[in-house]
Amino acid sequence: MLKMKVLVTGGAGFIGSELVRQLYNLKYKVSVLDSLVTGKKENIPPGVTFYHGDICNKEFVFNCFSQERPDIIFHLAAQVSVPYSVRNTVTDSEVNIVGTLNILDAAVKFRPKKIIFASSAAVYGTPEYLPVDENHPVEPLAGYGVSKYGAELYIRLYSKLYGLDYTILRYANVYGPGQLPDSEAGVVAIFINSLLTGITPTIFGDGEQTRDFVFVKDVAVGNILAMEKGKNLTLNIGTGQSTSIRELYFFIARELGVEIEPKYEVRRKQDILHSYLDISEAQKYLKWMPIYNLQVGLKETIYFFRPAAIYRREKVRII
Ligand SMILES: NC(=O)c1ccc[n+]([C@@H]2O[C@H](COP(=O)([O-])OP(=O)(O)OC[C@H]3O[C@@H](n4cnc5c(N)ncnc54)[C@H](O)[C@@H]3O)[C@@H](O)[C@H]2O)c1
Repeated sequence: MLKMKVLVTGGAGFIGSELVRQLYNLKYKVSVLDSLVTGKKENIPPGVTFYHGDICNKEFVFNCFSQERPDIIFHLAAQVSVPYSVRNTVTDSEVNIVGTLNILDAAVKFRPKKIIFASSAAVYGTPEYLPVDENHPVEPLAGYGVSKYGAELYIRLYSKLYGLDYTILRYANVYGPGQLPDSEAGVVAIFINSLLTGITPTIFGDGEQTRDFVFVKDVAVGNILAMEKGKNLTLNIGTGQSTSIRELYFFIARELGVEIEPKYEVRRKQDILHSYLDISEAQKYLKWMPIYNLQVGLKETIYFFRPAAIYRREKVRII
């Protein structure tokens, strides 16, 4: 049987490239559209067609769709930095809203079966209750959450106007091999990199603030299940578990065999105290469950970062 054609925007990035690897291993015909602003070309396996360009360039997006005629679109390309979105609201909204509109307009013309969108728990803002379910009020605390929610609204509107099918996945803090310190769960990469290079990491506040850390391989599986299961749904993708930043820090330090006490600085105003997601809807509609517990996921992540850090340390010594 001929497998479906899938297009992954942002497929050279941290989460996108894991999704591309899994789709490729499952023998889908995969193509990637990415500007490489944060993604890396070497993340894309040989055999995957690569379109290098910007989702804000409508002509480029339409060309790519016209050549590929994908059955499924995974839309992950985005401006992903929350602090950047605070200082650069216009650029953030251009990429995350206007860029998404270009993808949607191309989808209206070339009629894929479904669009699966990478949204974020950042849309909820400060939780009014825990765990945060999909009916929780939406009150983002930064431009990033607003632009992600704006993109969601347009996806729902296009579905009503033009009959496009979609699934919106609101990820918790995604961590894993290859993540950038700038991303939403960048704290994992920051702690590992700092400890491997002997730099004392900083914790803002007392470290008792909690987050929901979900492993990147589980997130990719959730996306793949959404290809066939569920229609026009918005679903949380997390673990349903909360972990404090201190717990995270000391687990990583123990795993690396280092005894460095972190520095503590005043909690930043915009930081949420506690957050974790209710994932029962994703369990119900996608039959999805995260497989990785934090310990196993962190071990894989540390294993990935260790050689890179050793290389950097040696380079510093030589200089
Ligand atoms: N990492 C997390 O914890 C997290 C949490 C919630 C949601 N998300 C969402 O998941 C998606 C993937 O995030 P990530 O963490 O892998 O970040 P990432 O920066 O590694 O991936 C984003 C990819 O999009 C590409 N890109 C950015 N702007 C583009 C543009 N204008 N045109 C074409 N390509 C462009 C980048 O080059 C990169 O490859 C994003 O939509 C992000 O908002 C991530």
